[in-house]
Formats: sequence, C-alpha cells, structure tokens
Amino acid sequence: MSNEQSLAERFNALADPALWGGLAPQLHIDDPAFTAAAKQPMNFDAAALNGINADLAREGYFQLPALDWGVDVAGVAAGVSAVVTAGYMPVFAFMYDEPWFMYARLHKLMTTVLDAGYRMMPAFWAWHVDGKREGAGWTPHRDLGYRTLLPDRRPKAMTFWLPLSEATPQNGCMYIMPADLDPTYGTPSDNQFKIDLQSMRALPSPAGGLLAWTQAVLHWGGRARKPVTTPRISISVEFQRGDQAPIYEPLLDPLQLPDMTSRLRLILRQVLQYKHMYPLSPDMESLAEAAAFRPGLTPAFLQDMMQRNKPA
Ligand SMILES: [Fe+2]
Repeated sequence: MSNEQSLAERFNALADPALWGGLAPQLHIDDPAFTAAAKQPMNFDAAALNGINADLAREGYFQLPALDWGVDVAGVAAGVSAVVTAGYMPVFAFMYDEPWFMYARLHKLMTTVLDAGYRMMPAFWAWHVDGKREGAGWTPHRDLGYRTLLPDRRPKAMTFWLPLSEATPQNGCMYIMPADLDPTYGTPSDNQFKIDLQSMRALPSPAGGLLAWTQAVLHWGGRARKPVTTPRISISVEFQRGDQAPIYEPLLDPLQLPDMTSRLRLILRQVLQYKHMYPLSPDMESLAEAAAFRPGLTPAFLQDMMQRNKPA
C-alpha cells in the first residue's frame, strides 16, 4: 500500500458520516433538512444589541444568558463527550452540523459587532474539561492582541465562546480582565500584563449562554476541581470584519455550512495549529500535515476524491 493510499483511507474513514453518526445519533451530519434553518437568524431586540456594543467598547467583552439556539444544546454537549470518549480530540465535534448551525444563527448579533460582511475565520476549538484528559482551560493570554483593534478600539476580530454545559468556577469557567481595568489593553505593550487579582472577573454561564471578547482582551479558563461532576464543555470560533485584511485564510462564509471533506480539512488545520499544546499521534500528525486546509493547496490524494464526490 502506498503512503498516499493509506492517507486517503485514513482521511475517508474520518470523513465518513457513519463514524460520527454512530457516536452521536442525536446530532445531524450534513443534513439539508436541518441546516436550512441556519439561515434564519436568531432575534435580538435593539436595546440588547445596543447594550452589547456599549459593553464591548468599555470592557472588551459581553455575555448573554442562555439563548434559543434551535438545537438540543445538551445533545451537542453529549456529542462532544462521545467524541472524546471514542478517543478523538474534542474539536472533531465540528464534524457535526450543530456547531456550524449555532454560529450561523448569530448573524444579527455578528452584524452588530463586526458589521455587515463579517466573515468566519478558520480558527475554532472545542474543550472537554473533565479533570482527566483536560484539567483546565488555557492559561492567561490575549488571542491576537492590540493589532486586532481599530484606532477607536472597536474590534476587527472577536472570539465567540459557547458553553454547552454549565460553566462554573468549579469546572473551569472563563475569567477575563475587563479592558477598562487593564492598563496595557490595546497598547503595543499588551504582551506585558500584570494580573490585578481584584479586577479579574469570573464568568460562570449556563449551558447555551454566550461569551464573546475582542482578541485583545486578557482571558483564561479556570482549573477544574477534582473530581469533576459536570465537565466544562464548550466550543469557540473566531470571526472578523469583512472590510479588514484576512487575519487567517481562507475566510469562510458564515452562513454556508462546509461539506464533510471541508470540515475535516479545517479540523485538521486546527489540530496542527495547536499541536504544541495537544500532542498528536504520528498517524494523526501525518494525516493533518497532508490534508489540512491550506489556502489554494489541495493534496493530490484529495483532488481525486473530491472530483469523484462532486454532485452529478
Ligand atoms: Fe483565547
């Protein structure tokens, strides 16, 4: 067997809807009857949207209570658990329709904070903080820093974090240093930060809530107490304004759910990007190196397959 064949077989096995359907039959996989509703945006009243922009300008983040996503949020959380239990990294939950669907439905909110023409960045992740495989969220950091703010401090790009289970200080909820209390926020010296303990803010959230921050805000995920009774399960995706140069490529149409092949290639790109934090098996690393989505680059073994899979 040639190496190319073996890569193609491994890729096909991971792109197979039957694999993921078997793990979480309650979720949807490339199901047009379900995903059609992704283009029906969730409604927010004008006052709520105004409040969001005010919070964002002052504190660099905003938080919303549990929203009406139109999906079974507990089922999505169970899907992430099933993916992890089967030995895959939690980010493979993006093989299901639901994560993409949930972000698409934020259209009205996105146009408020990032303007019409906003784009989805090929930058996403999922966490399953259960005290076993993963004991804490990420350490204090800024995502991309001050360069992602406009001169008036509005964001060029933001991270949208969705807790799928209740996030509490006990299971590792998010913590943030509000921008107005952070002396180096939005400045070229923002990589030098001192954490003023009294100013840091724990942000517990119900399952199905939403937390979003500019990419300059200082934040981290807490450490879970052991034993963890409710794992902290969450997903996040980064978005940017459409009138700014792409921060990562390819930028994605936020209302168009990628097909299974594209999802897998995007997921492989994420696992490569974070391999310094989450070491990969040699098989996963070689597949990711070969097949991860890179702009304009489609590996030979995928070109054949994608040609064959084109709808008639
Ligand atoms: Fe982050």
